[in-house]
Amino acid sequence: METRTALVTGAAQGLGHEFAVALAGHGYRVAGLDLVPQPETAGKVLDYLELTADVTDETQVRQALERVIDRFGTLHILVNNAGVYPSAAFEETTPDEWRRVMRVNLEAPFLVTQAVLPHLRAAGWGRIVNITSAAVLTAPPTMVPYVTSKMGLIGFTRALASALGPCDITVNAIAPSMVRTATAERTVGADGGFEHVRAQQAVPRTQLPSDLVSTLLYVIDEGSGFLTGQTLNVSGGSAYL
Ligand SMILES: NC(=O)c1ccc[n+]([C@@H]2O[C@H](COP(=O)([O-])OP(=O)(O)OC[C@H]3O[C@@H](n4cnc5c(N)ncnc54)[C@H](O)[C@@H]3O)[C@@H](O)[C@H]2O)c1
Repeated sequence: METRTALVTGAAQGLGHEFAVALAGHGYRVAGLDLVPQPETAGKVLDYLELTADVTDETQVRQALERVIDRFGTLHILVNNAGVYPSAAFEETTPDEWRRVMRVNLEAPFLVTQAVLPHLRAAGWGRIVNITSAAVLTAPPTMVPYVTSKMGLIGFTRALASALGPCDITVNAIAPSMVRTATAERTVGADGGFEHVRAQQAVPRTQLPSDLVSTLLYVIDEGSGFLTGQTLNVSGGSAYL
């Protein structure tokens, strides 16, 4: 079988880093795109293609895609993982901040997917995975833009799955609960955030990035071609979900 090639956005750290390393470990060729350099990921992945670009910038995204094709000749899998999750009172959310969250979390998956799509079509097979969040259901009051953007990403997932079903390209979303990453520790995890989320779960521990890998591998598997348009909650059996 042909070796599949994957592009992971936001691959410098956190979930994206975990996904890139795990995909390489399972025999996929991997390109990772991020705003910042990715020494930790590049150090762990053989033949890694490190792309520095802003997912909200159409030109940068297209240039990055050209480098993927130059290097690997093809592309099969896209993981739209790059995201931001600021926490603030709704009244203090400026229009600029609202637009920033929408651009990174919702518009960028559109831009990157459009740039990637011709290559998936050419390959005649594809898997698109969007990283949304269980916060769409727990709906924290200080994350109105975030929840809105991630709920939008679920709509994007469902409608795009309808559009691409005939092309053997599936589109699914994965919704983690709160995951212990450096950014989450610094922001939403501060002031007992992890403890609060853990108390709602059937599995009484904090989710780790590695807890999401098996779901990603399942969704992109050759045998998962009939699984599309779905959001898979990986939330330790949260009472909310
Ligand atoms: N950590 C959690 O608790 C959690 C829970 C549910 C969903 N998620 C989602 O998972 C994804 C990853 O979360 P994380 O905790 O690993 O975050 P993180 O901050 O550790 O990593 C995100 C990466 O995305 C990159 N990025 C941000 N904006 C970018 C841009 N404009 N262009 C290119 N790269 C950009 C950052 O540089 C960073 O390397 C996000 O979409 C987040 O919303 C996280």
